[in-house]
Amino acid sequence: MMDDLSSLREKFLEELYRTGDLAGLEDLRVRYLGKKGLLTNQIKELGSLPADQRKQAGSVINETKAFVEREIGLKRAALKDKELREKFASESLDITLPGSYCAPGKLHPVTQVLNEITSIFISMGFSVEEGPEVELDYYNFEALNIPKDHPARDMQDTFYIENEIVMRTHTSPVQVRVMQKSKPPLKFIAPGKVYRCDADISHTPMFHQIEGLMVDEGISFSHLKAVLENFLRSFFGTGVPVRFRPSYFPFTEPSAEVDIGCIFCGGQGCKTCKGSGWIEILGAGMVNPKVFEMAGHNPEKYSGFAFGMGIERITMIKYSIDDIRLFFENDLRFLGQF
Ligand code: DAH
Repeated sequence: MMDDLSSLREKFLEELYRTGDLAGLEDLRVRYLGKKGLLTNQIKELGSLPADQRKQAGSVINETKAFVEREIGLKRAALKDKELREKFASESLDITLPGSYCAPGKLHPVTQVLNEITSIFISMGFSVEEGPEVELDYYNFEALNIPKDHPARDMQDTFYIENEIVMRTHTSPVQVRVMQKSKPPLKFIAPGKVYRCDADISHTPMFHQIEGLMVDEGISFSHLKAVLENFLRSFFGTGVPVRFRPSYFPFTEPSAEVDIGCIFCGGQGCKTCKGSGWIEILGAGMVNPKVFEMAGHNPEKYSGFAFGMGIERITMIKYSIDDIRLFFENDLRFLGQF
């Protein structure tokens, strides 16, 4: 029996050595220590030994059993440790790998300039209004004192939806819509898209304008001058020269076009200002009394000024862009520069 036990022990060690995972180890444990295990059988055989050998054999068996249990315990701990390490290794992240690049989006240059202009007027106490892009002929023309035979109504300039419905050709109709629903004092700007049947290096069928209107008792041309000079100097720089030139718009009287000193040549005359030293920025004037009447306000009581400017044009001047179509081609090499 002693020989049996010592070869059992050796056999066990050999098998233990070859066991590579926890399932195999459990198998091994059952084969030696289970109910019908090799060691358990040895214990059962103790009874058949002569009484004088029983005690010594019993203690060797117990010692072998304890040995087998201890070795299995140690191996189990080692295998668990190994499994855990393998699991960690398979789940590990290499945080030094470069991530996949996601290019951040940017606002379109026209949107950037529109936002900048809007915030200058907001800082002067103007609110922001909107109007429809599909507009009634009445608001786009009639109520702005643009008579039926005015050249601006020509099919060549205006997109007609139906006889009395157009794509608005300017943001000026918002003046009338706001005056109809609210009483003075009024002080707002109205940015938005406008449409004209025109396309070349400096015209696109859709572009953006910002309209402005200020109406109250006692508003004069000097208010107009102060507001627009303050705007132009905030936008183009404190020292920029500003010039008001007499002009004509059906909805203002008197009317003016407003120029700034050419920012490219400093007024010397260059290609951009066509040698004049001045660049035209916007149209403006005192609200025509007829417009007040059509909007339901008494022109004897109220006066006001209005102005309108093209955003693409101002963006082109600000960034020296010579072709308006670049804004609408969605070329990221162009758009990424702003
Ligand atoms: N609506 C004009 C245009 O599209 C621009 C304009 C000029 C607006 C004078 C005004 C103004 O409010 O007073 O050309």
